[in-house]
Amino acid sequence: MGLVLGIESSCDETAAALVTTGRVILAQRIASQDAEHAPYGGVVPEIAARAHVERLAPMIEAVLADAGVELRDCDAIAATAGPGLIGGVMVGLVTAKALAMASAVPLIAVNHLEGHALSPRLADPGLEFPYALLLVSGGHCQILRVDGVGQYRRIATTIDDALGEAFDKTAKILGLGFPGGPAVERLAQQGDPRAVPLPRPLKGSAEPHFSFAGLKSAVLRASESGLHADADIAASFQQAALDCVLDRLTRALDAMEPVPALVVAGGVAANQRIRTALEELADERGMRFVAPPLALCTDNAAMIAWAGCERLGLTDFRADPLDFVARPRWPLDPLAEPVRGAGYKA
Ligand code: KG4
Ligand code: ZN
Repeated sequence: MGLVLGIESSCDETAAALVTTGRVILAQRIASQDAEHAPYGGVVPEIAARAHVERLAPMIEAVLADAGVELRDCDAIAATAGPGLIGGVMVGLVTAKALAMASAVPLIAVNHLEGHALSPRLADPGLEFPYALLLVSGGHCQILRVDGVGQYRRIATTIDDALGEAFDKTAKILGLGFPGGPAVERLAQQGDPRAVPLPRPLKGSAEPHFSFAGLKSAVLRASESGLHADADIAASFQQAALDCVLDRLTRALDAMEPVPALVVAGGVAANQRIRTALEELADERGMRFVAPPLALCTDNAAMIAWAGCERLGLTDFRADPLDFVARPRWPLDPLAEPVRGAGYKA
């Protein structure tokens, strides 16, 4: 049985976890920086990096103590090495390198997206490759075919905003605070999803890519018009976003070789309305639906440790060199064609 220390610091969560190759989370801690960023209505990279510096080392000591293990008992130290905010990524990666060197434990540099992509397998031992993955978070919005550890084919991405970003911007427009996803979902429960006419960008287009910028602008106009209740705007936004997701996902699934399971991961997978609709879509297509528990959907270190466990299990496993360079942009599928306007989300 292997044991991996995972470290996550790519955005605004500082997190550390100890996970075994037998899928047991021995300990995990997470510190959100919501309070620090809330006054600015979004994540401020410099504030995030400083907060990671202050919190990470004591947090790693704490998870080791929680589990009653020593660093040298670990078979690897897995840290997010990108993509993400470069300051934060460097804090986590440099810490991991120092610990790896001091304790002679191998380093595994993990792609944050790979952490999200494999997280459903931590919670569900029955989930085998291949599967279709909808990866929807604050920074990413992709549909991938996952064929194995390290084998990811990107089918679709966003040409502008990520889905979580659209939720966060809608929350900002409606004055709901940060982070916005859960607040929009809560308010939407009291509104009418058909009350406000909003666009469904790219719906029906041949390529399965996403676009949410136009939807966000329409939400702003609806709010400024003063004609609609905030709850109706929230509900109509959520419905429009969901319609886009289902349309784009259907297009992507039609375009790929059939796979037995549909999996959702990333922070937006915490949205109950979206989860339920995805489950129905999977049912209709005779696919199994897998969504990780909420705590594994938003950023966390258990998923990074688990990605390390998956890598350890490869027959040709090789540790990463201690001079591995942080990659603020790091596509999961390096062969994917760039998409117009996709920017760093590609
Ligand atoms: O995966 P994550 O924690 O961080 C990134 O890697 O981006 O995702 C955070 C994103 C935020 O945009 C947040 O608003 C969104 O996930 N989110 C939600 C919900 N919970 C979190 N969006 C919609 N509904 C939710 N319940
Ligand atoms: Zn994430």
